[in-house]
Formats: sequence, structure tokens, C-alpha cells
Amino acid sequence: MRLFDVYPIQDITIVKAKGSRVWDQNGQEYLDLYGGHAVISIGHTHPHWVERIKSQLDQIAFYSNSIRIPLQQELATKLGELAGKPDYQLFLCNSGAEANENALKLASFHTGRKKIIAFTKAFHGRTSLAVAATDNKNYIAPVNETENVIFLPFNDAAALSECFQKQGSEIAAVIIEGIQGVGGIHVAEDSFLQTIRSLCTQYGALYIADSVQCGYGRSGKFFSHDYAGVNADIYSMAKGMGNGFPVAGILIAPHIPAKHFQLGTTFGGNHLACAAALAVVEVIEQENLMNNALQIGNWLTEQLKQIPDLKNVRGRGLMIGFDVPAALPELKKNLLLRQHIFTGEAKPNVIRLLPSLALTQTDASKFIASLQQEIQSSSS
Ligand SMILES: Cc1ncc(COP(=O)(O)O)c(C=O)c1O
Repeated sequence: MRLFDVYPIQDITIVKAKGSRVWDQNGQEYLDLYGGHAVISIGHTHPHWVERIKSQLDQIAFYSNSIRIPLQQELATKLGELAGKPDYQLFLCNSGAEANENALKLASFHTGRKKIIAFTKAFHGRTSLAVAATDNKNYIAPVNETENVIFLPFNDAAALSECFQKQGSEIAAVIIEGIQGVGGIHVAEDSFLQTIRSLCTQYGALYIADSVQCGYGRSGKFFSHDYAGVNADIYSMAKGMGNGFPVAGILIAPHIPAKHFQLGTTFGGNHLACAAALAVVEVIEQENLMNNALQIGNWLTEQLKQIPDLKNVRGRGLMIGFDVPAALPELKKNLLLRQHIFTGEAKPNVIRLLPSLALTQTDASKFIASLQQEIQSSSS
């Protein structure tokens, strides 16, 4: 049987990983500033994470949500503290799309309304409503096309106010990434998030903070939305949550009551997933990784801004993007094949850095030196 060919892939096979390093089958070492697409939060194969999963496997890996799973409550308590939202409620699922799908569905159940506001260049996942709120026609199958999603320009408070004035009583939710990832690293302005908060409150809609990529400490705060000093009604989380183990969830504000059977999942919150997620929360806290993401991220951003060939350096913490000039079309490829550094990209010309939150100063410095070397040799 052939694999269904949905991704253009690099011809590289990774067989070993540790911290911010990975190795291919020939023993070639790479520096990983891509983190398997913002997934590796505490570093590859972190010993505490490995141990937690191994010892959980020896006890029980899975049982359904029809019985008590105390690990879920342990995770909810620790996560609530780390995220600074101890009074929120946790619903566990398996992927970012599923988290957003449940967030949007819950908003509709709660408000009794159908319309969702999303923004240009948004990416919220590939399930039915999440993809309908994603601003890329190529991802939306005919069956997922809906008039219930209204797309507005990103960071345009006037357009948002106007939309609420016209049809505020129909809006169930506004969904927004605190920093757009797939769209090319665009930071939602604090004032824009504050406007979303006040309009949602005024019109009885829910503010959904898609934190699948920009959350879990990557920005230097637990949620990048926290920079705006406002609380969302629902936060979706996934990528960094399990450090590679598939686990996701939504944090739900205390004013939204749960109703039996409205949301559900077979695998969500299983024993093994909770053990992995608990290990991540514990390591982020013990190793002060949010602070590391902020310090190393700020340093990297400052260094990148001093490289004249790179334009429009932007982001927060260890979620950084910059525009690559037309004169350096092979930069990302050369970083990988000649400097052995993984980076991310966003079409058409953005390099995205999404490393582990535990990236060291030494590795950050190595990246800047290699990048400068690569730009020099490509330009000469
Ligand atoms: C902001 C955002 N939301 C949702 C998703 C979907 O997550 P998943 O691929 O886990 O379904 C992604 C994935 O890239 C994302 O970046």
C-alpha cells in the first residue's frame, strides 16, 4: 500500500532526537529551530517526559472517559496554575483542529447562535468548522463551505465594530490566533484583542483565543493573548502541550456551564496523554521555560534585526518570523542542507522559527552565525 501523498516532504529520515538536536540515519546532526512545527516545547526526548510516559505505560495506557481518571484532574489543576487561570474548566481532546472545533461548537451551543467571526490569513485546522474559519480556499471542501463564517481584516478594529453593530445579535464567537502562525507570524495588536473582548462582552458573543501554535509559553507568557491584559472565554491548546505526544484541549471560562454529551471524545484525556501533558507542565515550571523563551527570543529577534538582508523581523518570544528577500530564494533550503538547521516557513517568503522553549544561548548564537555565513556565501 502507498501512503496518501498529502505533504511535500524533505528527503531526510530522523532517527534520534535530544533537546534541540536531531540526527538522521547517516549520523548527521541538525539544530532544530522548527520543533516539528512548534510541537517540541520542552526539548526532544526530555528525560522527565520519557520517564513519565514509560512508567504510565507500565500501569495503564488507556481507559475510556466513562470512569474516573485522576490524572485529568491533576493536569487541570497544574495547568490552571501555570496558565494563571485556576478557575477555568478543562476539556481534553487530541489535536488542534479538534480543540477549535469543540471551542466553536461550544460557543454555538452556549449562545444559541450560528455566526463566527474569523480573520484574514487565519488557520484554525482541517475539521469542518475549524477549516471553514480558515482563510484558505484550497483547504475548504465544498461540504465545509458555509455562510456562517464572516472573514474580517486582521487587526482592523473599525471593521470589527461595524460588523458587530450590523449583526451583533447573531454572532456566537470571534476566533483569533494571538500570533498568526501559518499566516506568516502576524501579531494581533493588544488594542485589537481588547476591542474583541469588549465587543464580545457587549454583544454576548464568546472570544476564542486559538493558542494552538502561539500558546503554551512560546510567546514568553503562557498565552500570547495575555499580553493584552484581557481574558478570553475559551483558549484552545495543542502543539506544545504533549511535546510530541498527541494531546490537546480547551480552557473554558467559569461562566460557561457544561452539559452532558454536548462535547465528547474517545481518546481525549487518556492516561498516557495526561502523563505526557503533566510532564510538560512540570518541566516548563521547573526549568522556567517561559522566561527562557522570552529571553532567548528577545535576543534572537534583536540579532535578526541587525542583519540588513532580512526584512520585517517580528513575533514574540520563540515564535519569530522574518521576510527573506527575493535575492536569497534558497535560504531556507541551504540552512537545512548546508548548515544542517531546520527552520519553518510560511508562503511565499517567510522563515518561521518555532524551536523548543528550552533553546540555549549557545544554540541561538550558533544559528545566528550560520545564518550570517549562509547569507554571505549566497550573496557573494
Ligand atoms: C493556530 C493553529 N490552529 C489550529 C491548528 C491545527 O492543529 P492540528 O494540526 O493539531 O489539528 C494549527 C496547526 O498548525 C494552528 O497553527
